[in-house]
Amino acid sequence: MFEKYFTERIKKTPSSFIREILKVTQNPEIISFAGGLPNPISFPQEELKISMNRIADKYGAKIYQYSTTMGLDSLRQFIVDRYKKIWNMDITVDNVIITTGSQQALDLIGKVIVNEGDSVLVEKPSYLGLLQAFCVYGANYVTAKLNDDGLDIEDLKNTLKTYKPKIAYLIPNFQNPTGITYTLENRKKIFDVIKDEDMLLVQDDPYGELRFEEGERIPYIGMNLSEKNIYLGSFSKIVTPGMRLGYIIANKELIKMLETAKQAADLHSNIFGQYLISDYLHNNDLDKHIEKIKHLYKTQANAMVSAMEEYFPSNVKFTRPKGGMFTWVTLEEGKDVMKLFDEAIKRKVAFVPGHPFYVNPLNVNTLRLNYTNADSSTIRTGIEHLADAIKQL
Ligand SMILES: Cc1ncc(COP(=O)(O)O)c(C=O)c1O
Repeated sequence: MFEKYFTERIKKTPSSFIREILKVTQNPEIISFAGGLPNPISFPQEELKISMNRIADKYGAKIYQYSTTMGLDSLRQFIVDRYKKIWNMDITVDNVIITTGSQQALDLIGKVIVNEGDSVLVEKPSYLGLLQAFCVYGANYVTAKLNDDGLDIEDLKNTLKTYKPKIAYLIPNFQNPTGITYTLENRKKIFDVIKDEDMLLVQDDPYGELRFEEGERIPYIGMNLSEKNIYLGSFSKIVTPGMRLGYIIANKELIKMLETAKQAADLHSNIFGQYLISDYLHNNDLDKHIEKIKHLYKTQANAMVSAMEEYFPSNVKFTRPKGGMFTWVTLEEGKDVMKLFDEAIKRKVAFVPGHPFYVNPLNVNTLRLNYTNADSSTIRTGIEHLADAIKQL
C-alpha cells in the first residue's frame, strides 16, 4: 500500500538476508554459526569502565556536545601513529576521517564515487554489506573470482578489460565471507594488473589485525598509500562493535568530499564513543588486547577445522582460515544449500547460505560458518550435526 511512496533506489536494494536467518536462530536450542558477532568476552569491559569515568571527569560537557565531522583529533592521531608504525604510511590526520563503523565508510564512498550504472569490481563472493550499500547508488557489479590464494588474475584482467570499473572493492585479509587471505604473490600480481588502470581501489580491512600466525603482516596492495588507494579500518572487531567506530584513510581531496557526504548523513559520529575509545587506546596496550582475541579465535577456528576434517564427507571443501571470524564451505557441485539449511535446522544447527554474498545467486552450493561465538565443544557438536545434514542431502 505504501510502496508508491518509496524511491526506486530503495525498492531495488535487497534487505539483509542474514537478519531473516537470525530470526530462526533466536531459539536457544539452536547452535548458530550464522551470525558475525565478535565474542563478547573479547570486549575490554573493565578498562572501558575506567575510561568512561576518566573522560567524564576530564572533559565534562564536551563528551555530550556536538562535534566536528572529521572526528576527534586524538583518535585520528592514534590512527595516524599506528599506521605509521605498522606500514610506515606517509599520512597526517588530514588523511583520516572517522566514520560510524566501516559500514558508513562504504555508504559514504558509494555516495561520493558511484553514479547510477557505474561498474564496481567486487570479489566473487563479496561482503553483503557492501553489495547492499552500493546498490542504493545504482552500482553495476562486475566480479573477479576468489581462489584459495586470492583473486583469480585472469578473471580480474578480463573483467577490467570488458567493464573498465571505476572502483574495486577488496577484502584481502581473512575475507568475509570466505576467510581467504590473499598471498603476497597474489597481491603483487594484482598490483601489476591494476597499477595503470584508471580505477580507485578500496581495501576493507576490519579483520587484518586478527591474524592467528606469528610473523610479519602481509602488506596491503599498492603500498605506500597511493592517491587511488582507499583503506578502511574499524574498531568493531578489536575493541567493540557497539561504539560504531571505523575510519577511512585516503588522499586529502577525497577525504574532503567524504567529509561533505558525512555532514549530510549524520554531522559526526557519536562523540561520547570517540572520547571513550580514544581514551581506552591511549591508556591501554591495544596489541596485548588483540593477542588475547587472536588466541581465543584461533582456538575456536582450530576446533571447527578439526571437526570438519573429522566429520565432513571428503567431497566437501572448506577454507582453513588464518585469521578473522569465518570459514566457507563448498558442497558438491549441484547440491542446493537451501535444502541443507532446512536439514540443518531440523538438527538444530544454523549457518548462512551463500546467496547474499553473490551478485547473481544461482545454483548456490556454498555456505558461511562463523566460529567466534561458541566454545570448542559446542562447535564440535554443531559440526557433527551439520555433517549429518550434509550426508542426508
Ligand atoms: C568486510 C566488512 N566490512 C565492513 C564491516 C562493517 O563493520 P563495522 O561497520 O562494524 O565497522 C564488516 C562487518 O562485519 C565486514 O565484515
